[in-house]
Amino acid sequence: MTEHINQSLSGKKYLILTYGCQMNERDSEVLEGYLENLGYCPASAEKDADIIILNTCCVREKAELKVFGKLGELSKLKKEKPELIIGICGCMTQQDEVYERIRDKAPYVNLVFGTYNVHQLPNLLLKIQNTDEPAYEIWEKEGDIVENNVSRRIDRIKAYVNISYGCDNFCTYCIVPHVRGRERSRTPDKIVEEISGLVKEGYKEIMLLGQNVNSYGKDLNSNLDFADLLVEVNKIDGLERIRYMTSHPRDFTDKLVETIARCKKVCEHYHLPVQAGSNKILKAMNRGYTREEYLDLVEKIQSISPNYSITSDIIVGFPGEGEEDFKDTLDIVERVRFDAAYTFAYSPRRGTPAAAMECQIKDEEKKERLHRLMEVQNKISLEKNMKLVGTNMEVLVESPSKTDSSRLTGRTRTNKIVNFSGEQSLIGTIINVKITKAQTWNLIGEL
Ligand code: SAH
Ligand code: SF4
Ligand code: F3S
Repeated sequence: MTEHINQSLSGKKYLILTYGCQMNERDSEVLEGYLENLGYCPASAEKDADIIILNTCCVREKAELKVFGKLGELSKLKKEKPELIIGICGCMTQQDEVYERIRDKAPYVNLVFGTYNVHQLPNLLLKIQNTDEPAYEIWEKEGDIVENNVSRRIDRIKAYVNISYGCDNFCTYCIVPHVRGRERSRTPDKIVEEISGLVKEGYKEIMLLGQNVNSYGKDLNSNLDFADLLVEVNKIDGLERIRYMTSHPRDFTDKLVETIARCKKVCEHYHLPVQAGSNKILKAMNRGYTREEYLDLVEKIQSISPNYSITSDIIVGFPGEGEEDFKDTLDIVERVRFDAAYTFAYSPRRGTPAAAMECQIKDEEKKERLHRLMEVQNKISLEKNMKLVGTNMEVLVESPSKTDSSRLTGRTRTNKIVNFSGEQSLIGTIINVKITKAQTWNLIGEL
């Protein structure tokens, strides 16, 4: 690696602030890898950094507002420290309006790139260094997947592994296909090679990442699908746990349900975003399934994998959602009894079909529904966790607990967080923990 180190950059410090989903978290690991190869080292605070990059998300308005707020703060820092490089990348920059707003209203930003040209970071930085001019470069369209091993992984136990990029589903509310491009799958040999390398380094758990993992492989010239990929990954010696994110209920085939149940390393946690419980709204969202089909799928999973857990994403206040439609959402939540759900108020996104639909729901209404939904879901989450009290669960110990460093935290195969007392040397091992207490979002246990 040392031959890449650029003398004039060596010793300089970077900070990457990451917003949004695991895709961005993974991209940030790659960006940090590029920066370290150039000779940068991590900064512990904004004021110590020579370069700060915001890796942005635009899935909801709130995410964008956070970034604009942070840019405002950084503009002040830049006044005190004119040589500071402020960069912005990620999903927000792929939108023309945002790009123009930064160019015209935020002249202190001297580095802009998008989701399709992350690999250009070193060149863009050299350009800034050599010319003292800002470097702005956005690609309009996705290019081929760039394979390389540059990345700085922070976690030593769990690792993200991309299996596909982009999304072709075009749910009518969603900006992701517009800023992440068409779906592209990595080849299975590259994926298996990366995971085998990670296992050799001591990683125990991998999370296969894609916006819609179950359509993996459709763009490759082979018959291999996501279930076949799981079978391959499951064969990797030394790997303990396999997770994936996100699966779509539409093409969750019987073959996939059976494969997940059969592959022992694949955890029995299903994150199956339902989004809404009303057929009218599901259709308007272009989700491609009905509530009945969703419930059938859950039943199938339950029959084949009895100790499973299931989580969901749910949107309230989609255009045209009446009280009856919302009650259908509450009803499906009660029927499925999700272990947990990420609940969101619908946020109109520029250029998506739903943003132009009539009958947009008022903010107060959305808030009220969100509140009602969370109340129902939290009660179910707690009830489901209470049922686990007294049982022994297999836990992969991840780190000291965030709230109390004398305790440890880990996850069950069903993705429940468990906090308990134990020696630090247990980190990275798989142990049995007896659950003694349940809370809405996590479990308390003892060895
Ligand atoms: N590809 C994944 C994740 C997409 S973004 C999937 O399909 O599940 C994560 C979640 O954000 C979505 O599941 C959805 O619930 C929510 N979301 C997306 N667009 C939104 C919008 N415009 N308003 C509110 N929530 C949204
Ligand atoms: Fe967005 Fe739908 Fe694609 Fe998920 S599947 S990223 S919600 S368009
Ligand atoms: Fe946000 Fe982009 Fe992920 S919009 S949710 S960071 S794919």
